Amino acid sequence: MQESLTITDNRTNTRHEVPLYKGSVRTMDLRKIQTGPDDFGVMGYDPAFMNTASCQSAITFIDGEKGILRYRGYEIEHLAERCSFLEVAYLLLFGELPTSAELKEWVNTITHHTMIHETTKKFLEGFRYDAHPMGMFISTVAALSTVYPEARKVQDPAVRHLQICRLIGKVPTIAAYTYRHSLGFPYVYPDNELAYTANFMNMLWKMVEPKYQANPILARALDILFILHADHEQNCSANVMRSAGSSYADPFVSVAAAAAALSGPLHGGANEEVLKMLDEIGSKDRVPAYIEQIKAGHGKLMGFGHRVYKNYDPRARIVKWTANQVFQVTGRNPKLDIALELERIALEDDYFIKRKLYPNVDFYSGIIYQAMGFKPEMFTVLFAIPRTVGWLAQWQEMLQDPEQKIARPRQIYVGKEARELMPIEKRASRVASLTE
Ligand SMILES: CC(C)(COP(=O)(O)OP(=O)(O)OC[C@H]1O[C@@H](n2cnc3c(N)ncnc32)[C@H](O)[C@@H]1OP(=O)(O)O)[C@@H](O)C(=O)NCCC(=O)NCCS
Repeated sequence: MQESLTITDNRTNTRHEVPLYKGSVRTMDLRKIQTGPDDFGVMGYDPAFMNTASCQSAITFIDGEKGILRYRGYEIEHLAERCSFLEVAYLLLFGELPTSAELKEWVNTITHHTMIHETTKKFLEGFRYDAHPMGMFISTVAALSTVYPEARKVQDPAVRHLQICRLIGKVPTIAAYTYRHSLGFPYVYPDNELAYTANFMNMLWKMVEPKYQANPILARALDILFILHADHEQNCSANVMRSAGSSYADPFVSVAAAAAALSGPLHGGANEEVLKMLDEIGSKDRVPAYIEQIKAGHGKLMGFGHRVYKNYDPRARIVKWTANQVFQVTGRNPKLDIALELERIALEDDYFIKRKLYPNVDFYSGIIYQAMGFKPEMFTVLFAIPRTVGWLAQWQEMLQDPEQKIARPRQIYVGKEARELMPIEKRASRVASLTE
């Protein structure tokens, strides 16, 4: 039997049966609840999508109450422990883990898409010496759209596949170039003999040595961090990716739009903010005073809290473990002590307990990145590289979903009714301030 809800409309004293679809109401069904033939019908009102599913997805599963994260049914802990990033990328995009032959071919394909066009390199050179790497990254990814105009054929599966490979191959190259640019170092071309993260490290840090040798512990740590950041279901930037892609914009500009959403301090920009916060706190003994300040309503504890997780973010636990591996190579980042103290005190404090605020993935990732030698401005770019895979998986799923159309929310209009337009000489200023 079809499950349903019965809604009584007290305005008209009528009862309406609304079917349930997988425990949810299709809000289009509410439109049938009308006061009369001219009534538009009932809409759902949900600013910030607090309780609205915008799609059905088979990619990532999160149980925020229990702190569970799975990609295509596999626990994040198992993937982080046993797989490489490109293996996980394959899983996210195609639904199954690759066989060794499939993985070999996939790695080979991605490796052969790592070069960027020389004109794109010149485009990057045009940025100011102090340009923020995330601004450079977003603009350059968008600029790839001009190099591959065929990418617009988003309904052609073969064209889509090629752009997916190009994007996954090229984002580390662009990211590394933004880093070298900010240091004034010459760009390093990709090395096809190296694995994905080792090649990224080569493009970041190779100087005059004939062959760059990546430290295997650091390369594996980066690979794990990439796995943890690869997808996170319908987060702010994935939603932008789906939304931009729903107009059939090409994947390069759509990924640029998603990366722009990621750059904000409430999303992927949080890891940079965590480092600034730890700098501001300065030492372990100043943590209690800082927490009191947050509780008094002055700012937020960056790297804490999550829209979906109301428990320990499972990724944060793995990041913490990875931090210890990295510190064996780089030496301990002294900021870790401040972070550990913040976590300890916050997790015992009623304010944080009541609001279910736990460390999220960004809380420890910045500390690792800094120990590896990255400036905080690079952190969000490091997030964008693996998340490109998630965006592309979400984009592909959206395009293949027959229920999806151009994303176009409704609004509740609260502005003025129709009114007369006054000639300019008869208008009195009614705007108190343009900046409030
Ligand atoms: C992630 C985040 C945007 C989620 O926001 P949200 O789901 O809209 O949650 P809300 O802003 O409604 O927060 C609920 C309550 O917890 C408080 N809160 C949320 N995050 C907090 C934080 N990091 N520090 C202190 N208080 C926080 C809010 O002030 C609010 O308190 P109130 O009920 O007294 O008003 C938010 O937790 C945040 O800004 N965190 C810091 C940034 C960050 O780390 N982002 C990375 C996410 S992976």
